Amino acid sequence: MPISHGLLELKEHSEIEIKDLFLKARAIKNSQRRKTPEFFGLTAALLFFESSTRTRFSFETACARLGVYPLILSGAEGTSLIKGESIEDTILNLKSMNPEVFIVRCGDGFDLRQIAQQTGKVFINAGWGMHGHPTQALLDCFCWQEYVSNIRGKKLLIVGDIKHSRVAASHRELAQILGYEVAFCGPASFLPQTAGPIVFEKLSEGLQWADAVMALRVQLERHQTKMTLDQYVANYQLNPKTIQGLSSSALIFHPGPVNYGIELDLSILKDSRCRILNQVEHGVWLRQALLQVILEESL
Ligand code: CP
Repeated sequence: MPISHGLLELKEHSEIEIKDLFLKARAIKNSQRRKTPEFFGLTAALLFFESSTRTRFSFETACARLGVYPLILSGAEGTSLIKGESIEDTILNLKSMNPEVFIVRCGDGFDLRQIAQQTGKVFINAGWGMHGHPTQALLDCFCWQEYVSNIRGKKLLIVGDIKHSRVAASHRELAQILGYEVAFCGPASFLPQTAGPIVFEKLSEGLQWADAVMALRVQLERHQTKMTLDQYVANYQLNPKTIQGLSSSALIFHPGPVNYGIELDLSILKDSRCRILNQVEHGVWLRQALLQVILEESL
């Protein structure tokens, strides 16, 4: 499926398509014009059935800059979901208003692929349970390549709650396409059961290996683990002491939201290698490029 027809999982897309998307995002980044309202009068349905700050506002900003009107559903409050209407029926009704694209965040219990097929509309996965978060992985790599030119062969260490992370799941797919290496680091109960990337038990060893490190939010609410936060902080927190072995040219990422004091010490934000807020900035350009590719097809 070409990316202009939707983005549910990265494994369905090619290196050529993704690199083309990065080129478009870079052109937007380098453009002096903040607004390109070429899609005035079109609508995009932003349906966030689960909470979001970065992804929702990033897509809203991208829509505003393109002249697309965002139809926003943010949680059940104020909608007929609280009267018992299903997500599926909500989407079917909105389809009758004919938005050009659906941008959806939902849980694992909802079948995004099935509704995309049923409606025949273009869908973007804006964070689907633990399946994946493709635009996050794309913006991470777009941001990364803007600092290192070429990420092929580079090494990304993902630290923390990998088992429950849709971001880690999307990086596993994207690494296969773009040719960077992914390794995981965390306590055994935070790691996926499936075979795959290299695993570092010790943070210090992983950091020595890495060209970039991405910390993830600890989702203790999802674990049956006996590990306490104190143990996690002692063994896996990124702070000035633990990152001493990280190369001076390596970059530090986090998809957000960050629990400062747990997976990251607040002082990391001041580290010259930290790119957390740059990720957010690049996310708007990347999402603007993605919407542009999709909307050009619908004109
Ligand atoms: N990175 C990310 O998806 O953040 P939000 O949950 O705030 O959208």
